[in-house]
This record gives sequence, C-alpha cells and structure tokens, in this order.
Amino acid sequence: MTDQAPAVAPGAYTGPSRVLSGVQPSGALHLGNYLGALVKFSRLQHEIDTFIFVADLHAITVWQDPALLAQQTREIAAAYIASGLDPDKATIFPQSVREHAELAWIFQCVARLGWLDRMTQFKEKSGKHKERSSVGLYTYPVLQAADILIYKATHVPVGEDQKQHLELTRDIAGKFNHDFGVPGGVPAFFPQPEPLIQGPGARVMSLRDGSAKMSKSDPSDYSRINLTDTADDIAAKVRKARTDPEPLPETLEELTARAEADNLVGIFAALAGKTKAEVLAEYAGKGFGTFKPALAELAVEKLAPVGDRMRGLLADPAELDKILAKGAARASEAAAPTLAEVKKLVGFWGA
Ligand code: AMP
Ligand code: TRP
Repeated sequence: MTDQAPAVAPGAYTGPSRVLSGVQPSGALHLGNYLGALVKFSRLQHEIDTFIFVADLHAITVWQDPALLAQQTREIAAAYIASGLDPDKATIFPQSVREHAELAWIFQCVARLGWLDRMTQFKEKSGKHKERSSVGLYTYPVLQAADILIYKATHVPVGEDQKQHLELTRDIAGKFNHDFGVPGGVPAFFPQPEPLIQGPGARVMSLRDGSAKMSKSDPSDYSRINLTDTADDIAAKVRKARTDPEPLPETLEELTARAEADNLVGIFAALAGKTKAEVLAEYAGKGFGTFKPALAELAVEKLAPVGDRMRGLLADPAELDKILAKGAARASEAAAPTLAEVKKLVGFWGA
C-alpha cells in the first residue's frame, strides 16, 4: 500500500532491547569483575529488561568439584544482589536451564572451525596441553553465543577480555540469519548484540604487575582485591600496590606509559564514577603518598559494604535458592519461544 522506504533497513533487527550477561562460579570475585561487569549490570537494569546468569555450564569446561559448585553458584548470585542487582527487576538465574545447551548444539553446526581457531582465550587457557583440554573449553564461545541469542539480547555488558567472544556471537547471528532467516531478511531473526565495554573499569590490571589482567587465577592474593576482603585487607592491598616514584602527571598521554599508575587512576575513576582525566585534574603533581590513601579510603567506602551484604545474603541460602529458582523459571519462559522458532527454521520434525 505504501511506496515509502520501509522504516527499518532490510535485515535490521526490530525486537525489543534486552541486556544479558553472566559470570562463572569458579573462584572468588574481584575488583575487575565488579567494575568490568557487576556495576554495569545494576546500572542497566533500570533502563532495559535485564537477564543475568551464573555461568555454571561454562565453569565446568575446567574441573569443578561437584560438592562445591552449587554453593559457588549461590556466591555469585549473592555478589550480583550485593552490588545492586534487584531480583524483582532483573532475572537472576543459573545458566544450566535446558534451552542454552540445546541452542548451543545447533550453533555448533553454524559456527566454523576457523572462527574458533582464532579465539585467544582457548589458546591462553589450554596452554601447552591443548590435547588434554576438554572439548567444551574449545566450543566455549559457541555456548556463549547461545546464552546471548536465546534471549535475542541486544546489549552485553562485559570486560574487555570478552570482546572476541562477542564478535563471534555476531558472526553466528549473521550466519544463522543468512542460512535460515525468513526470505527477504526483514526483519532479521537474531540481533547483532552490542558489547558494552566502555569505561575505566573495563580492564582492571593486577596490583602487582600493570601488564597482567587482575584475575582469579593469579597465585598472589595481593594482585587483586576480592569482593569479600575486609576493610583492612583492602587498605593493605592498595598500600602495597606496585607503583613508580613519579608524581601523577597532568595528561592522559603521560599516564599511558606508566602501567601501574594508569591502573590505579583507572580504578579510582571507576569507583568514583569519574573519568581518568577528572582524577588527574584533582591529583596531578601529587605523589602516591597522597594518592594511595585516598584510593584506599574510596575502595573501602565502595567495596566493604558489598562484602558485608554478600555475607548477609549467604547466611540465608534458602532465600538465594528461591531467587535462583524463580529466575530459572522466568529465563526458561523467555528462552522457550526462541528455541521453538529456531527448531522450525532449521526444519526439525515436529517443530
Ligand atoms: P570471569 O571472571 O572470567 O567469569 O569474568 C566475569 C566478568 O568480569 C566478565 O565480563 C569479564 O570480562 C570481567 N572481568 C574479568 N576480569 C576483569 C578485569 N581484570 N578487568 C575488567 N573486567 C574483568
Ligand atoms: N565468558 C564469560 C566470562 O568468562 C562469561 C559468560 C558466559 C558470558 N556466557 C556469557 C558473558 C554471555 C556475557 C554473555 O566472563
């Protein structure tokens, strides 16, 4: 009836916006997880329908003690809520709801070996003993694509280390749309999800080595601030953080060449909700004798209450289980229609 150009470009995705992300229950959470992921989750829940899960399927790509996994899952759920995620607003759930794994299989037949061969995380995690890694560690990013696309999520808040997995997700969405999409391609079946990576907290580095990422697996506990650290631990770790003897510079360019100083300024900025330039405007010319105590005070002010709330939530595991069960039901309900449509598009009998 109309000769006007369609409001939507051919192939564009027209569904509602949705946020999805997750963290693995495979060790204590640290400041990098908090700034790179958790604080973003609670900010986004007020703007967009938000789904946040505990990545237990991804965790078992390396050995997890079956006697501990459920409790580790509760700990991550507690960390989500302690850092501001509201279970009545966001859907908080365990990843091991059926639909994720089922879509992951179909995506394993869409993704190409050559795409997975490029993934740097597998190379890092498998190390020298590639042939002894689980197959799941290799196909890990395909499951991640299924996690995201089963909800047709449009926005994925993550730290910088997840960028390549998001690119793979976009490739899988594009190939699925191309191979199985509605003829004409309007609208696209799957969205091209956007990674939300910006901000000074997207890549928090080790407190002992400004060239290594802050990580759960670093043998030195002084390399990271854990969400469950006490106020005294937090202050001690900031005090002992590696630095250089120079005062803080005036410009971001001068800061870039000083990895440890850059990291501490980035942490300050992320915790204070400021930019690194704003932090420099305040502290340029001042030495670490002044900056570190200010950072320690800020870190304790922001993080100690999160740890306290986590401990409070973990004291009532039955309540956490109720939240996870309700979330799992809600997640399944949201995922089921996508899976049904996918099965139809692929052509399965009875779909
Ligand atoms: P993981 O601990 O690998 O399951 O990561 C959970 C989330 O935290 C992901 O979104 C990561 O990108 C993010 N993350 C992990 N380590 C860091 C870090 N050092 N700096 C910023 N974000 C991080
Ligand atoms: N791979 C992510 C990590 O290690 C966790 C994860 C699994 C994830 N599935 C996801 C993150 C989907 C975002 C979206 O941190």
